[in-house]
Parts: sequence; structure tokens; C-alpha cells
Amino acid sequence: MNDLVMPQVANEPVVPGLNMDYFWMPFTHNRHFKKHPRLYVAAKGNYLTTYDGRQVYDGTSGLFCCGLGHQHPKIVEAVKSQLDTLDYCAPFQFANDKAFQAAERIAAIAPAGMNRVFFCCSGSEAADTAIKMAIGYHRARGEASRIRIIGRERGYHGVGLGGTAAGGMTNNRKAFAPLMPTGIDHLPHTHDPKHMAYSRGMPKWGVHLADELERLVTLHDASTIAAVLVEPMAGSFGMLPPPVGYLTRLREICDKHGILLIFDEVITGFGRLGHHFSAARFGVTPDLATFAKGVNNATIPMAGVVVKQSVHDAFMTGPEYAAEFFHGYTYSAHPLAMAAAIATLDVIKEEGVLERVRELEKVLEGAVHALKGEPNVIDIRNLGAAAAVEVGSISGSPGLRGMNIVDECFRNGIGIRWNGDSIMMAPPFFSTPDEVARMIETLGAALRANA
Ligand SMILES: Cc1ncc(COP(=O)(O)O)c(C=O)c1O
Repeated sequence: MNDLVMPQVANEPVVPGLNMDYFWMPFTHNRHFKKHPRLYVAAKGNYLTTYDGRQVYDGTSGLFCCGLGHQHPKIVEAVKSQLDTLDYCAPFQFANDKAFQAAERIAAIAPAGMNRVFFCCSGSEAADTAIKMAIGYHRARGEASRIRIIGRERGYHGVGLGGTAAGGMTNNRKAFAPLMPTGIDHLPHTHDPKHMAYSRGMPKWGVHLADELERLVTLHDASTIAAVLVEPMAGSFGMLPPPVGYLTRLREICDKHGILLIFDEVITGFGRLGHHFSAARFGVTPDLATFAKGVNNATIPMAGVVVKQSVHDAFMTGPEYAAEFFHGYTYSAHPLAMAAAIATLDVIKEEGVLERVRELEKVLEGAVHALKGEPNVIDIRNLGAAAAVEVGSISGSPGLRGMNIVDECFRNGIGIRWNGDSIMMAPPFFSTPDEVARMIETLGAALRANA
């Protein structure tokens, strides 16, 4: 275990005045963290403030979600004003006006034909919602045998049972094997450093990996497959941009066999890849797309699924007095979240955010690839305002080198994160070239310090 030397007095709290015993932290090494906290107490713009008063550049936009920076005044104002007007109302059998406005705004920027929007509160819920929609869609059309979902190795679709099963993260799945729904299979992941290490943007190798879908169709028969669920760019595993042509090929095979294509746009949506939905960047329109995070700059938990009208309309059967889709959440379409989303969309438009991200992409690409040749670096990947540097693992301790490097950066005022030994960056969209340069220089120094 990495033992950072931090001043500690027996029985004294690590953070003065804060008892850290009670909060069980998600996806975190609780015991290590509570000895060596990366603890924030405030944030503004591109910077967070630690409990001991240091400024840390938010090099991952929170968890890839606050691309517009913290406390954007227009979003803050919209949420405050909504709080003063309508704080909450039931989302089943009743609704609030902002939900309809937000849905209309999202439909307007979604790929053509995707114009019906269902709201939930997290990316995990969005994934499970999309899976239910896909199975329900086929059932409503008289193809009830289509129940299988095809995910992809190294995919992440949150932690609901559907998303965990369709996802391809071993640690997330293995402990819960008995709970995984049957009827899930996986495409191979698309990352092969032998053929694509240090690709700038989308790798040119790998389109053929989409043909594995044909193999799964042959194995299971199309009549049992409801949908393919993939992230256009696998984010959480460590930024794996899709090979050129890969998503188009998946689309073609889905069309050929009547299979729905679901894009999980939880990270890639709302600006991260320079478009509202990355489907536009890749020139591939899915049938359903999940979104979350950037939709309202993470101000209030919010997510959703936008679908083609044909998917929605398949559910609109039966007597009009009866609900059509037996699914939803107490906090679906929460008025504060909706207000934040409308304001976020205004900011994206008024402040030319998509154009800014396209400029930022060039700056980030040039800067991050300069780290080739630094100690232990084995791959560098980038797309949009996102990048990853992968380092070789310390023998027997996967993830430890990644953590040490991130800790070193944190001590030097740069907040980035690691998954395994991939170190990930997703800078806020208004970052300056100087801020990007400082992030990369700090990372370079941390790589050398952990050689
Ligand atoms: C692609 C993708 N899908 C789903 C999720 C889950 O989102 P949440 O943590 O809001 O449940 C994430 C979270 O990082 C994600 O990256």
C-alpha cells in the first residue's frame, strides 16, 4: 500500500473539526482516503478549494460533468429562481412546466428523429431505463422474444443491475454475479495498444471489431436480441475513442437484424466531444441515447433517455386513461434540475461552448501527446475535451502507480483522476491554453517523480 507521509497525531482528526468515520464513500478506497483526504469545501469556475485552503484546477470537470465550470452565474440564478417558484411536485400523474420546456430543448438538439425525452436522476437510472424501453418496445410490437442486450467489454453504464450487467467492468460485476440478469452478452472492447497506441483522436485500426456483432447474432439469433448498448467513446475505463467506422458498422448490423442501437452519452453528451450529442460527431444516429452529467452541468442530479419517436409511439397503446410505461422515479424531472438544464443549454448556445471545445481539443491533443516518452507511459489517448495517459502497472499492484501519480498532481494543485493505471483528464470547457499546459506539465513532473 502506498504510504504517503502526512502529519497525523494519534486520535486527532486528520481534518480538524471533521469526523470522517460515518460517511461510506462510493467507489473510493475509504481507509486510505480518510488518512489522506482529497477534500474540497468550495468551488468557483475551473477551481476547487481544499479544506486547507489550496486551489486545485478541476482537470476532470468534477466527474466529467461540470464542463461549464462551477457556479456558472446563469445556472445558479435559474436554480435559485426555480427554488423560489416551485421546489417540487409529483412527477407521476402530475408534472411541472419546466419538464416540458427542458424536453423540448433537448429534442431540438438531439439527432434528427430523436424527439421524445424521459427523465431520471442518474446515468445508472438512464441505462436501466433505456434497457427496459428497448425490451418493452419489442414486446409492444409483438416481438417479445427480443430480450437480450449486447453490451461491450470495458463499457460502463452505471451501477443499476441492467447497466452493471451490460457493462464490462470486471470489478463491478464479479461480486454481484448472481444478480446479473441473464440474457446479456458482450462485444469485445476496442482497445488494442499493439495497433493503436498513441493514436491522436480516433484510432484508424479496429473497425472489424464491430463485425463481432454478426457473430453474436449468429450465436443467439436476432429474434432474441433487443438492443446493443455502447458508449460512443468508452469513458470511465480510460477514454477509449471508437475506431474510425466502428459505430457506423454497428449501426448497419443493427439495422440489418432489427436490433435497437443505444448510445450511452452520459459522458460524451452536452459538449464533451464538441457536439450536443456525440452521435452528430460520429455521423451515426442511435435509436435511444442516454444522457446525464453535462445536461445541467451537474448542478442538480439529472439524467434522461432521448428516443426516436417510433420507439415512444410503440408504447402509446391501450386505453388512454392507463399509464403506458411502468417506470419512473420520485425525482424524475425535478423542477430544479430542469431549470438548471434549460440554463445550461442557454449557456452552451450563448457562450459558443461547442466551438470552444473544438479549439480546446486541439490544445489538449498537442499538449497531452508531448508526454510520450515520459517514464512508464505506454499509451496516450484523446478525443474532444478528454484525454488519458496510461502507465504500466507496478507488478502485483494494478492501479497503485495511477493513484500515486494522481496524488502527486493533487498536491501540486491539479485535480485529475485514475482508473486502473489510466490517468484521465476532462478539462472544463472554458480552460485556457495556459491551464491545460500547467495540467500537463504537472502530470509530466508526477510521472517523473513516480518513475
Ligand atoms: C457512460 C456512463 N454511463 C453511466 C454512468 C453512470 O452515471 P451515474 O453515476 O450518474 O449513475 C456513467 C458515470 O460515469 C457513465 O460514464
